Amino acid sequence: MKKIFVTGITGLVGSAFVTALSRDQKGTKFVCLTRKSPVKSAYDRVYDIVKEQCEFDGTPELFDEIIGNIEVVDGDVTTINPAEIAKLPVMEGVNSMFHCAADVNLGKDPTGKTFKINYNGTENMIALAKLLNLKEFHYVSTAYVAGKTIGRAMEARPTCNEFNNPYESSKFQSEGLVRDCGIPFTIYRPGIITGRLEDGKIRKPLAFYRILEFLAKLKSHHCAKEGVNPASEYDLNIHFNTVASERIYFTPIDYVQYAITKLFQKDVANQTFHVTGDSPVNTDMIDRALCRVLKLKYMEVSKSADEDSLNKDSKMLERFIGDLFPYFANDVIFDQTNVRGALGDEALAWTYDDRKMEVMMREFFVKFFNNVPWVQEILEATK
Ligand SMILES: NC(=O)c1ccc[n+]([C@@H]2O[C@H](COP(=O)([O-])OP(=O)(O)OC[C@H]3O[C@@H](n4cnc5c(N)ncnc54)[C@H](OP(=O)(O)O)[C@@H]3O)[C@@H](O)[C@H]2O)c1
Repeated sequence: MKKIFVTGITGLVGSAFVTALSRDQKGTKFVCLTRKSPVKSAYDRVYDIVKEQCEFDGTPELFDEIIGNIEVVDGDVTTINPAEIAKLPVMEGVNSMFHCAADVNLGKDPTGKTFKINYNGTENMIALAKLLNLKEFHYVSTAYVAGKTIGRAMEARPTCNEFNNPYESSKFQSEGLVRDCGIPFTIYRPGIITGRLEDGKIRKPLAFYRILEFLAKLKSHHCAKEGVNPASEYDLNIHFNTVASERIYFTPIDYVQYAITKLFQKDVANQTFHVTGDSPVNTDMIDRALCRVLKLKYMEVSKSADEDSLNKDSKMLERFIGDLFPYFANDVIFDQTNVRGALGDEALAWTYDDRKMEVMMREFFVKFFNNVPWVQEILEATK
């Protein structure tokens, strides 16, 4: 039976992995390295999040059993002393590591925090794995270690070393540490994680969801200023100053959860897997769904020849969420050979369509804008 040292259990991916593996492999034990918050102990944070994840998964009845198999070590991946952690009684019998903790900030990294968490944190986890003499190291990377790759990115050591941001660069370098550490590894590379395919729900919206939040707030602001009912159709007259793409790898969290959990249970053989699916969406689909859900007029997405001519809002959009633009301009293809071989064609049969895209966005607003009457009014009217 596995006893797994886990980092990142409080995050979107880590919590989904722990509950799904607990269902597949009853009795699996976990030791989770977690930071405390100013108001909660590390254990209480894990307790609350695992409960929430069990409810999210539709299996609240499994919570007691799952939490009973989880022990928590209070600590930060950047500051722990691997030698001290390795000696803790709770580490007795740990035979696997699942390193998922990361700083997923896609913006600038002026203080070096992203690099420290992602790179130095991985160094520490590898040091710990070596002290424990582990024979398997599971690492959650990102498909975007491909950086500015044009064309097909393989499930192998990345070949491009030009990146869109310090996050990608730090994850690329961390993958290198894992590949070269001498411990057999499995590397999982998710795409842009979105809500569950069928009902759109997500426990913790990240990255792409900032666009939804930004546009809803901008509409609220303009309508209030102009005395217009925000529940009616409105032209934001905004221009996304980036090239449109046919290959945006939105990856539903239920697929990420399923794929990582199943791949984890295969033999560890120094393999890398693109957990992105094989049905990327395009800019137009996102634009259409966003306009329907927020009642907006279609928004322009194109690289402007004259950036000075962009209006104030378009410039503000770029300032606030421009870090996401590369992910909407990308035309990389994430090769699926290894995933297909391990999980079969049927695992990759899912696809986003206009309806599912809309459902995903609607669910975000249902849950995270539930105190904004005009948003709820639109959602109710367009049910
Ligand atoms: N979300 C995506 O779209 C996406 C896409 C591709 C790849 N990934 C990868 O998936 C992995 C999980 O990300 P996620 O989506 O689950 O993000 P998340 O929800 O932000 O989770 C990040 C996790 O890392 C932990 N963490 C961060 N800094 C830490 C530190 N210094 N010490 C200990 N724990 C720390 C966080 O703990 P706290 O709760 O204490 O902050 C949290 O549990 C990451 O490796 C990320 O690069 C994510």
